[in-house]
Amino acid sequence: MAKNILITGGAGFIGSHVVRLFVNQYPDYRIINLDSLTYAGNLENIKDLENAANYSFVKCDIRDTAALEAIFLKENITDIIHLAAESHVDRSISGPMDFITTNIVGTANLLDLARTHWKNKEEHVFYHISTDEVYGSLGAEGFFTETTAYDPKSPYSASKASSDHLVNAYAHTYGIPVKMSNCSNNYGSHQFPEKLIPLMINNIRHNKPLPVYGTGENVRDWLWVEDHAKAIDVIFHKGKVGETYNIGGWNEWTNIDLVKLLCQIMDTKLEREKGTSEQLITYVTDRAGHDMRYAIDASKIKTNLGWEPSIQFEEGLEKTVSWYLANEKWIDAITSGSYKDYYLQHYSEE
Ligand code: NAD
Ligand code: TYD
Repeated sequence: MAKNILITGGAGFIGSHVVRLFVNQYPDYRIINLDSLTYAGNLENIKDLENAANYSFVKCDIRDTAALEAIFLKENITDIIHLAAESHVDRSISGPMDFITTNIVGTANLLDLARTHWKNKEEHVFYHISTDEVYGSLGAEGFFTETTAYDPKSPYSASKASSDHLVNAYAHTYGIPVKMSNCSNNYGSHQFPEKLIPLMINNIRHNKPLPVYGTGENVRDWLWVEDHAKAIDVIFHKGKVGETYNIGGWNEWTNIDLVKLLCQIMDTKLEREKGTSEQLITYVTDRAGHDMRYAIDASKIKTNLGWEPSIQFEEGLEKTVSWYLANEKWIDAITSGSYKDYYLQHYSEE
């Protein structure tokens, strides 16, 4: 059966990498990129695909049930790879309601379309992209595995945990063929500069303070975004229906060590005297309820599907810095906010 794959959130950071991989790798699939273009969605991220024969973009909010259903039927959607979400923890603390409506209700809307319209269930896949943050926070030891109990702590992680539960409940109750993956922190090109790495790169560029929350000892497990996209490809094609896979980089860093490494790379790239950027580091009030440590045990996906990260962190971080420095217009447009008006003029609502 021909595949018409709906990828949601494809104008965002990870989604744009996933869309690019699928459009280029699978010319026989039709890829429909659905995104409402929030502040985090940017069509510049996938501009190179605009004229690809197997690709189309549709502006739609996953909370708009009627519009979503019309697209689902018009495009005869056979599979869904669902990434659209509100994704930033700090924003979820200052304004949780968009996280509840988009991440929970939006996911339920998509699941319900699959329930209503997919008759021969075995011909379809509903693949939900989730986060390791649903497992809560680790102490100094141990790793999150696929059987770790959910214990979300932030409005963001609680909304993603809720959507994960809905996905599993729809699979259990209605037999929807679901797949799911929970990934650690991603880094790479096209990430919105509110997240740690691009925010620090941008602030170093402008000689602005580098706000490190609390003691800077919190730990994250960083994964190259293109490796995440490859993992999604592998799980979509070879993963077992009904299964969850944890994806991680085996790459733990305290925030402060990571920021210091970034400072060193930036000093070299900007030809600044060694130690210049580190002087910008400023410890600030900690994030409310700040999770201490995330670390993924990615043995299952390695053993069962043969996936593992392809590049070392130092190399990936250098490539990331190079990308941001070569794309200053991209980051300047986003941070000045002017891009929003541009897109509203060029793309109308469905
Ligand atoms: P992002 O914020 O960069 O992109 C999210 C995209 O979703 C944007 O293009 C936005 O316009 C779109 N979107 C938001 N609300 C929408 C709505 N109501 N209707 C339609 N589109 C909407 O996020 P990201 O970092 O690329 O994350 C993508 C997915 O991966 C999310 O589900 C996130 O939970 C998950 N994830 C992210 C990370 C990470 O490190 N960034 C790690 C693990 C899992
Ligand atoms: P972030 O990129 O927001 O991802 P998440 O909270 O989903 O892990 O933050 C990564 C880590 O960096 C997290 O421990 C919070 C910390 N952080 C700072 O110290 N300063 C900052 O300005 C930001 C955005 C994050």
